[in-house]
Amino acid sequence: MWLIKILCVFISIFSISGKYWKPTVYQKIRQSPRLTQFYSLLESNRPAKLNLQYGEMTVFVPTNEAFEWFSGGNLNDIINYHMAWYAKQTKDLKTGHLTTVLEENPPLWVTKLEDDIFINNARIIPEISDYASEINNKPKKPQVLHVIDEVLDPVVKRISHAIYNPTAFDFLSRSQFWDIGSHRVQLFHRKIIGSRKENLFKSEGNFTFFVPVDEGFTDYRLQMFDGNVIDAHVIPHRVLFTRPSPKDSPFETLANGDYLYVVVLFSGTEGKLFVKSHTLIGDSNRPTGEIVAEIVKSNIPVKNGVIHLIKRPLVVFDRRLTLFPYLPIMDKLSMDPTLNTTYILGEKTGFNSILNTEKKQITYFIPRDQAWTNLQSFLEVGKPVFDEFIFKYGRSILNRHVIVSNVSYTMEDLRKRSNTTDTADVDLPTLGGILKVGISETDGNYVIYWRNQIIPVYRANYQCTNGIVHIIDQLFTNEEDFSSDSSSEDTTEVNHLHLLNMLIRVTI
Ligand SMILES: *[C@@H]1O[C@H](CO)[C@@H](O)[C@H](O)[C@H]1NC(C)=O
Ligand SMILES: *[C@@H]1O[C@H](CO)[C@@H](O)[C@H](O)[C@H]1NC(C)=O
Ligand SMILES: *[C@@H]1O[C@H](CO)[C@@H](O)[C@H](O)[C@H]1NC(C)=O
Ligand SMILES: *[C@@H]1O[C@H](CO)[C@@H](O)[C@H](O)[C@H]1NC(C)=O
Repeated sequence: MWLIKILCVFISIFSISGKYWKPTVYQKIRQSPRLTQFYSLLESNRPAKLNLQYGEMTVFVPTNEAFEWFSGGNLNDIINYHMAWYAKQTKDLKTGHLTTVLEENPPLWVTKLEDDIFINNARIIPEISDYASEINNKPKKPQVLHVIDEVLDPVVKRISHAIYNPTAFDFLSRSQFWDIGSHRVQLFHRKIIGSRKENLFKSEGNFTFFVPVDEGFTDYRLQMFDGNVIDAHVIPHRVLFTRPSPKDSPFETLANGDYLYVVVLFSGTEGKLFVKSHTLIGDSNRPTGEIVAEIVKSNIPVKNGVIHLIKRPLVVFDRRLTLFPYLPIMDKLSMDPTLNTTYILGEKTGFNSILNTEKKQITYFIPRDQAWTNLQSFLEVGKPVFDEFIFKYGRSILNRHVIVSNVSYTMEDLRKRSNTTDTADVDLPTLGGILKVGISETDGNYVIYWRNQIIPVYRANYQCTNGIVHIIDQLFTNEEDFSSDSSSEDTTEVNHLHLLNMLIRVTI
């Protein structure tokens, strides 16, 4: 009995004195029910476990919930990205970067705000951080444990010798090594090389880079995209991850001269993140105004900062100035690359002037380019014949696609006027006459019945300042569009008669 008492006293002396019994960081992770995900990764990664048993370091451990949200790459690869050399309490962390135990990794970027500290895009949870201890082995070395609310993601598919602490330029020249889904960044890369801006993307420093993906370039945007515009995609002196960055406050870009002066700001709505560029000083090719681009892949850490992939280039407008969020119908039409044929046709035939009205409301069923190519391949004619044909009859075809009225019609409005699903009992008072149509809806997808055609509505209810646009997959065409001109005796009449016959077969 006395022996047990002595033992108890002995144990309590050691527990009180604390330092001999304080669990190591490794033991602390093992004991914490909120950190079991990280612990099991650690157990299956021998180099990481060894580092943790022998080195002075700071470990950033994501909670189990953070792993549930994580959708990035190979977990086994990223564990080393959570360990930085040297023991740093939160009071020692400064805005800047930390080097991780695996030198191939990009650095970890620290953002210190008044109340919070972020490591890349993850927030340190202060109540359960700043756990300091020492390793068991000699020589004793200090270690610190911080708990964070997001997994740290180097975004690199697999750490390999192909990539060693990559700069933004390395990312752009070998983006196939990064986990960026189907996005490609070749066009931006080519523009950088063409404008001899490589050094900017290679240089040491603290930068935020906005990289437009290839899908976001139209011919026109590409043409307007020069070295000065590239500068407008780079914020110097700041490494801005999305969460710690202030929203709606402007940052100067490298385009800060007398010819082009651009600031950018972050904004967010409904879980989506956007970046806006404001061109404050511009010229005829790069007019003043605002461009909004969605961030499609955020927070890619690199040696010289952070990269955000954006859906379209900043600064360059489309043919004419646009305003967010609502555009005049004319701007929507001219900006959307999938509506090119209808736009060009409207310009050539003078039809588009109808769209500039501000007194009336317009409902425009815009055939997308696919609708025109479908018609062309149905008619089995080459592009030159087809173009000649639609430029000749374009205006009367387009008239049938627009309603000018004191109100504009959403697809819901039109659907409500239809009593049954597939009878044509709604009168559309178009400029080309009354069209009798039927309208049905399933799961928010609309279909228009006209004659014996079924016309899917590709995109319904695009609200504009002077009306509404519905993008459709087939044209409202019939034989009347082509018969008005039967007395003419031009040499292409044979072609037209042939086309006419084809169309009569479709639409009767
Ligand atoms: C980057 O930022 C850190 C921290 O503010 C600073 O110490 C460092 O000098 C900067 N690097 C360059 C190249 O400006
Ligand atoms: C738009 O259509 C016109 C006429 O068909 C064509 O010449 C032009 O190349 C097209 N532009 C784009 C960007 O597709
Ligand atoms: C629109 O015009 C129709 C007839 O022209 C009229 O009955 C209706 O009240 C008008 N609607 C509005 C909102 O002015
Ligand atoms: C639709 O239904 C209404 C009310 O039931 C009726 O008055 C109207 O005549 C119907 N329209 C058609 C075209 O059948």
